[in-house]
Amino acid sequence: MKSRRLLPGFTDKDSQRAAPVSTDHVAPKPLTIVLVLVVVLVLDLARLTPDGVSCAMPEIAIREFNPEMTDDTAEVLARAFVTNPLNIAVFGVDQVSVNKAFFRGGLRVMRGRKLVALDGARIIGFIHWVTSPRCQLSSLEKLAMLPRMIQEFGIPRSLRISSWLATWSKHDPKDPHCHLGPIGIDPSAQGRGIGQRLMTLYCKDLDRTAISGYLETDRAENAAFYQRFGFEVTDEIPILGVPNFLMRRPAHR
Ligand SMILES: CC(C)(COP(=O)(O)OP(=O)(O)OC[C@H]1O[C@@H](n2cnc3c(N)ncnc32)[C@H](O)[C@@H]1OP(=O)(O)O)[C@@H](O)C(=O)NCCC(=O)NCCS
Repeated sequence: MKSRRLLPGFTDKDSQRAAPVSTDHVAPKPLTIVLVLVVVLVLDLARLTPDGVSCAMPEIAIREFNPEMTDDTAEVLARAFVTNPLNIAVFGVDQVSVNKAFFRGGLRVMRGRKLVALDGARIIGFIHWVTSPRCQLSSLEKLAMLPRMIQEFGIPRSLRISSWLATWSKHDPKDPHCHLGPIGIDPSAQGRGIGQRLMTLYCKDLDRTAISGYLETDRAENAAFYQRFGFEVTDEIPILGVPNFLMRRPAHR
């Protein structure tokens, strides 16, 4: 009789005592197939997220800014703006911490509406808008800021900051408007529609109050982004050798 092959440690007697096991192919149950398909689909969706992170994009929440968020928001703005030509002209190349100090100071004196975009507890975006004439600091406010500015940035940078802000101020429209800026998204979160969401909120406010919008930008490519929201370039001015585009959005009545 042909001897049967046994698993190591098994005797022929053991195999006779064991319950018969069918070697026929067992068809998977429909529920198993559905479960496998769901797992494959979830894994595939995770792989397709735009930032390559292996999980679906969490919900981004938009919240009112509060002073406790100052440091994290300044960091996000610094990272967003550090490569903008005007920030480079004023602060130098790769100056994230100097930009951060600049935005930290700016956040302290900004009036008007300030919103942050949050990914969980992490701030990843910021937008600010304010109605004229409160969009400009008074001469007294500027004077009060000067000693601290010089202490923080030194004289050459302080002079460049003053020249920049004075030129923007000089071109500020005389008629009522709602001034946008800054808007910045952390570089790791750009291109995911967060800037668009923040801009939509600003434009809703413009439409609700039937006031015109106004902004300055130092990037020609940003003009295309703002045109999507009804802004048009009305002027181009040089600041420290960097072309700045002034843009307006008519009031919708
Ligand atoms: C400009 C900025 C706020 C846009 O925010 P974002 O979250 O990256 O933009 P979104 O993902 O919402 O983009 C919405 C759409 O505008 C397009 N877009 C975004 N930035 C653009 C730009 N600079 N130029 C042209 N198109 C742009 C996107 O491709 C997207 O198009 P789609 O809907 O066809 O895909 C952001 O890139 C940023 O912080 N930049 C650095 C700081 C800065 O320059 N701020 C503005 C100062 S005036």
